[in-house]
Amino acid sequence: MNLTGGLLWHWRAWRSDAQWAQTRAEIETWLLAQPIEEEQLILIGASAGWMMSPAWLSRYKSIQTWDIDPLAGPLFKMRHGKALRQHGTALNCFTGDALRMLPTLLKAQPRAAIFFDNVLGQIRFQTHTIHQAENRLQTLTQALRGRHWGSIHDRMSGPVQRTGLTTAAPVAHTWPMLMVNEAQETQKWLARMGAQSPWLDHLTGDVFKEGTELTHMAWPMKPDYWHWLQAGWVRP
Ligand SMILES: C[S@@+](CC[C@H](N)C(=O)[O-])C[C@H]1O[C@@H](n2cnc3c(N)ncnc32)[C@H](O)[C@@H]1O
Repeated sequence: MNLTGGLLWHWRAWRSDAQWAQTRAEIETWLLAQPIEEEQLILIGASAGWMMSPAWLSRYKSIQTWDIDPLAGPLFKMRHGKALRQHGTALNCFTGDALRMLPTLLKAQPRAAIFFDNVLGQIRFQTHTIHQAENRLQTLTQALRGRHWGSIHDRMSGPVQRTGLTTAAPVAHTWPMLMVNEAQETQKWLARMGAQSPWLDHLTGDVFKEGTELTHMAWPMKPDYWHWLQAGWVRP
């Protein structure tokens, strides 16, 4: 069973269009601010691209999307195919475990940029132990050495106080990971989202190495259960 995608995800994403609009806009702003060096993109965990920016995608000449969900490819084409065709961007959608196949994909497309589209934070649901999840994440990031890659993923998630906010508050901001009082800043950030203990750690705290410039966004996945999204790019 796919705990992080599939029909339920598509249904929720379709229904939450308005609720997620602010976060989608913040993701787009962040993506468009990133310099693009490659012409090809491999998008992993693409689903139907519910949170994806068409303006950013159309900057590439060719895109491969990957998802384990067989519905993802057809739906992605339905949502983004026409706009990409108009911009002359070639689109190929594949079904498969791209995390397992990562070394093969990297070898097959040595010049492509890689973007993990809200998938790395779900690895903890696909392994038996925390230790296995951490190892898997470490193996993945090691395989990416020397590549231009980025990721947006769940850093933490949990219940929020009903603050009356029905859309994500504009709380995206950047901080360097090497700040002196990171714990204090984290608490401030969680408080800003109205986080109520306990929050789930998605074990992605070490995906990016120290010094990577990160952007943090709030995503009201459900009105009373929010996700803290962490986004960053790594240049070789
Ligand atoms: C939270 S959803 C991402 C949503 C997507 N980025 C969007 O904007 O709609 C996580 C996605 O990752 C996919 N996924 C999980 N494990 C995967 C894997 N090993 N390889 C490829 N896709 C995977 C799931 O099927 C699901 O569609």
